[in-house]
Amino acid sequence: MSFIVAIDGPAGSGKGTITKLVGEKLKLVNIDTGATFRCVALNMLQKNIKIEEENKIEEMLNNIRIEMKENGEVFLNGEEVTKKIRENEVNNFVSPVSTIKVVRNKLLEIQRKMAEGKNVIMEGRDIGTTVFPNADVKIYLDASPEERAKRRLIQNEEKGIKTSYEEVLQNIIDRDKRDSSREIAPLRQAEDAVYVDTTNLTIEEVVDKIIKIIEKRRYKN
Ligand code: DC
Repeated sequence: MSFIVAIDGPAGSGKGTITKLVGEKLKLVNIDTGATFRCVALNMLQKNIKIEEENKIEEMLNNIRIEMKENGEVFLNGEEVTKKIRENEVNNFVSPVSTIKVVRNKLLEIQRKMAEGKNVIMEGRDIGTTVFPNADVKIYLDASPEERAKRRLIQNEEKGIKTSYEEVLQNIIDRDKRDSSREIAPLRQAEDAVYVDTTNLTIEEVVDKIIKIIEKRRYKN
């Protein structure tokens, strides 16, 4: 039987970094569901498919193969796309793609299959509410929009991307609104999730806190 840890939260809450570190420490397979949405967005761009072309999207989804290796590499239809799915073209397209019903349904199936028979830590927006409503541990990571904007600004600077704090903050506020108000599987905290506010915590503090929560559940019997 598999053990499932669900990590949900908005962009910039630290999900990616934290999930990776906790997964390594507890030997849980790390599944980044955002990467699956990014693969669909990339495949649509490669095939020049528009958001409203539902038939073409369905046909593409019938043939899609998404693989995630344990070393973090992502493969789309056999091609290594780990970096490509983080480029601006995909960043700008993935949010509307993630609101398409057939896309979410197909990815739900793929994400559940990826976890089959494994002990996993899965991060996304709707893991505790939709993908694995019976997950063994559910955590909702959050941070103030201002703190998330600061973190994103630092990331952008590291990548050599020039943006202003105001621009990044507005982008985060808009994205939160869109992610939590969409019709299917919106971003929201599951009732039984543990809320962790990372605003004033270091990465190490968050990792420690989450490991304690997981171990308590894992070894409770
Ligand atoms: O976490 P990320 O930035 O890689 O996610 C990319 C997009 O996919 C983002 O716009 C939200 C969406 N997403 C989603 O709707 N549900 C998930 N479980 C994961 C990501």
